[in-house]
Amino acid sequence: MGKVTIGIDIGTANISIYSDMEKMIFHEPTVLAYDMKKNKVLEIGHEAKELAEKTPESIVVLSPLQGGIIADFDMTLRLMQKVESRVTAVTGKRFKQMDLIVSLLPGATNIERQAIGDILFSLGVKSLYFIEGSLAATIGAGLPFEKPIANVIVDIGAGKISTSLVSYGGIVTSSTVRKSGDELDRDIAQLVRNKHNVLIGLETAEQVKWQLHCDTSLEKKMIEIEGRDLVTGFPITIKVPSTEFQEEIDEFLKRILGVVQATLETSPPELSGNIRASGLMLTGGGSLLEGLQDWLHDQILVPIHLAPAPFESVALGTSMAAEHLDKLINVEKVTAR
Ligand SMILES: Nc1ncnc2c1ncn2[C@@H]1O[C@H](COP(=O)(O)OP(=O)(O)OP(=O)(O)O)[C@@H](O)[C@H]1O
Ligand SMILES: [Mg+2]
Repeated sequence: MGKVTIGIDIGTANISIYSDMEKMIFHEPTVLAYDMKKNKVLEIGHEAKELAEKTPESIVVLSPLQGGIIADFDMTLRLMQKVESRVTAVTGKRFKQMDLIVSLLPGATNIERQAIGDILFSLGVKSLYFIEGSLAATIGAGLPFEKPIANVIVDIGAGKISTSLVSYGGIVTSSTVRKSGDELDRDIAQLVRNKHNVLIGLETAEQVKWQLHCDTSLEKKMIEIEGRDLVTGFPITIKVPSTEFQEEIDEFLKRILGVVQATLETSPPELSGNIRASGLMLTGGGSLLEGLQDWLHDQILVPIHLAPAPFESVALGTSMAAEHLDKLINVEKVTAR
């Protein structure tokens, strides 16, 4: 059997892995449950996320990435060890028998690159490539990345928002802010605490977010929220009008617009007409916020498209990059230090 290539996207909220047959082989939350007494990882992915905020003190449920980058090196390594076992269970191969292409945040620092490289080399990886995540997203979203035209991609994840203009197989200009969906969850939890004296977990806050519209006055609804009453200490269910969250939503929208503007401002004038005609492609889980396409269209007056599989564009494009290495600029082969 020939060598297998896999494309890996280690996101703040989700890790996705595609094989070179364009087949998804892993898609789970970037979360692990860790027993501090036994120094042992108990669960990863969905099973670990299920345990969040429900375990005794000696077991912690961790998200080792924050803002799109590794915040806890050791826990990311332990998570990736488990991820490798899962991948081996599906493919019959270890990482060291494969070519790995891994996406990076646009503008990742050398330290960030080294951290990911060190983790993968310590797992025995022999062949490793890095690709800029937004270039991968452009490929995965089906845009004509290799043509000398403007492909503008906006990736709204849990930890960061990135916009890039891709033309002729490379990134012409890009911009990133390391605050995104997770920050909105925190803002929602904060509002419920300050205004209603109710403590809620971040998972509950995330579920509230999924029910909101960009313009809460367009789709008014009462949202049921379960938490702990800070005054009595008892569990409580409250109903909060969706309109109460407009300021938090506006902050999130402002960040998206800021990143898009920063990219468009620095794009070559020769491509402007092109951008006006072909518009922007949204991807990443945050692009599923209801009403976002219409809202962004009203702001910048260009067509706004949604990628066919917003959670998967980066990983799919990363795996597809293997066939296009000769046409891609922001891909590099990495060697162990
Ligand atoms: N319907 C929805 N409305 C708003 N946000 C959503 C919706 N569905 C998912 N999300 C958000 O999408 C984010 C996860 O998206 P994604 O998997 O693309 O992030 P990631 O790639 O792990 O993060 P990053 O790229 O920032 O490192 C989470 O913040 C999640 O709450
Ligand atoms: Mg992502």
